Amino acid sequence: MALRLGDIAPDFTAETTEGTITFHQWLGTSWGILFSHPADYTPVCTTELGATAKLKAEFAKRNVKVAAVSVDDIGSHRGWVGDINETQGTTVDFPIIADPQKVVATAYDMIHPNADDKATVRSVFVIGPDKKIKLTLTYPASTGRNFIELLRVIDSLQLTAKHRVATPADWKAGEDCIITPAVKDAEAVTLFPKGFRTVKPYLRYTPQPDR
Ligand code: BEZ
Repeated sequence: MALRLGDIAPDFTAETTEGTITFHQWLGTSWGILFSHPADYTPVCTTELGATAKLKAEFAKRNVKVAAVSVDDIGSHRGWVGDINETQGTTVDFPIIADPQKVVATAYDMIHPNADDKATVRSVFVIGPDKKIKLTLTYPASTGRNFIELLRVIDSLQLTAKHRVATPADWKAGEDCIITPAVKDAEAVTLFPKGFRTVKPYLRYTPQPDR
């Protein structure tokens, strides 16, 4: 069955470009992003892994560890990293998991046979420090993902894990948040000392609490 939000992210041990990792142990207390790509030495994937490498400092700032996976073997991954570094002007130093036996792909349901019965689609799993899945995304092979959007989502997930707020459409870090409906006005006065603005009883905005 497909993994759902709140499920424990399956643990595994796998060979990667950064050595063998046991996933949960490697994550430690960090947040994690596990994302699959269809195949090495393909154009969209090359740009995606380059984009991820360039965001290293942004992921680190958010205490997020990133790992990629495809069903290619470790020799293929190692060779391809050279191409990514050369063509994308960066250094890939996050693990790319070799999954020729499809252990990770199967555990995370990353092969969608009606799209491609051999290769992984572009899956994304955001995993919290509790090892639970906080977000899933699935893109087709033909569409590269927006990694800035992943940072935005992480900002929202980390904020909403600590404060009783949600984030509105197109929200970006620093913008006003929405007070969750379970918080009554009387409680909101205490929880949100910067104040709040009521548009409708169910739609109340407050400045981002941790800024
Ligand atoms: C790509 O990464 O460019 C790609 C991979 C598989 C199918 C289509 C495109």
